[in-house]
Amino acid sequence: MVILLALKNNKTYLENLQLEATNSIKTISSEEDIENWRIDYIGRKGKISNFFQSFKDLKPEEKNELGSLANKLKNTLEKLYKEKQKALKDNKSNIQTEFFDFTLPGTPISTGSIHPTNQMMQEICTAFNKLGFNIFEGPEIESESYAFDKLNIPTNHPARDIWDTIYVNDVENIKSLVLRPHTSPMQIRIMENNEPPIRVVIPGKCYRYEATDNTHEWHFHQIEGLVIDKNINFLNMKATLFEFARMIFGDDTKARFRCDFFPFVEPGAEMSINFKQNEWLELMGAGMVHPKVLMNVGLDPEIYSGFAFGLGIERAAMIKYGIDNIRDFYANDYQFLKQFK
Ligand code: PHE
Repeated sequence: MVILLALKNNKTYLENLQLEATNSIKTISSEEDIENWRIDYIGRKGKISNFFQSFKDLKPEEKNELGSLANKLKNTLEKLYKEKQKALKDNKSNIQTEFFDFTLPGTPISTGSIHPTNQMMQEICTAFNKLGFNIFEGPEIESESYAFDKLNIPTNHPARDIWDTIYVNDVENIKSLVLRPHTSPMQIRIMENNEPPIRVVIPGKCYRYEATDNTHEWHFHQIEGLVIDKNINFLNMKATLFEFARMIFGDDTKARFRCDFFPFVEPGAEMSINFKQNEWLELMGAGMVHPKVLMNVGLDPEIYSGFAFGLGIERAAMIKYGIDNIRDFYANDYQFLKQFK
């Protein structure tokens, strides 16, 4: 009877011990405490060891039963101990590697920026806008009629050779559409659809079948300008374009006009800007709108006159920023582009 009671008490003792050990381990948060817990429960002189000592006088069957229960508990507690120890270690190493200094400034997010060609285009449009010009856009694929004929460049006339044209074959394989080699076709489209006074600029992309070099690309951007009214003269053109050059390149800009030939203007000129010390870079072609062009769109050259110009946008950026290779604009080199952020 006494022995039976002892067995029952011992079982209860083990159950309580398990409860106590599993509860207390949950509250542990330091390596020191977990070591004490280990010594306390499963150490050489711990509670489980003591328990084994305490029932050595019991009968063998009872010893066996309690022994296996106590062993089971010992294994359970050892497992708990290892898990907890690992969790504490992991936590510690996490804290070390993932240490985060909240006072450091954030990593800047790399944002895109407007391409230097487009920046220049916007700047030029804004300048002309301030001078009273409206801004239009036009098609990049043009008929030969707009690209050449109506601009006083008849078929087979040698003047057509000035433009190294990229032809777009249409269904019948007839060469009638071209990638526009200049923005001048827009002079015609604007005059056909608007009454004078006209004061417009037309930015856009142009294409030429051309070998590239430092100042020529097979595709590039131009801005066409057109002014049509009564009593417009060459001096008006010079004044407008000189003023424009000062607005873009600064007050002390040196610009020069020299005679040039374009079939749709008379007289024709080219305007160059003092690029570097003694270097001049042609910025645009310009001139008084040819009477034949005015007649082509039904305007009377006895009443109306005007001037037109076409300037290279990349050329303007090259002059402004001292870039000596036009191909940089199309190379997509981040080192180059990031300078224009
Ligand atoms: N379209 C000419 C070119 O591309 C430039 C130009 C425009 C010249 C208007 C005169 C007048 O070379």
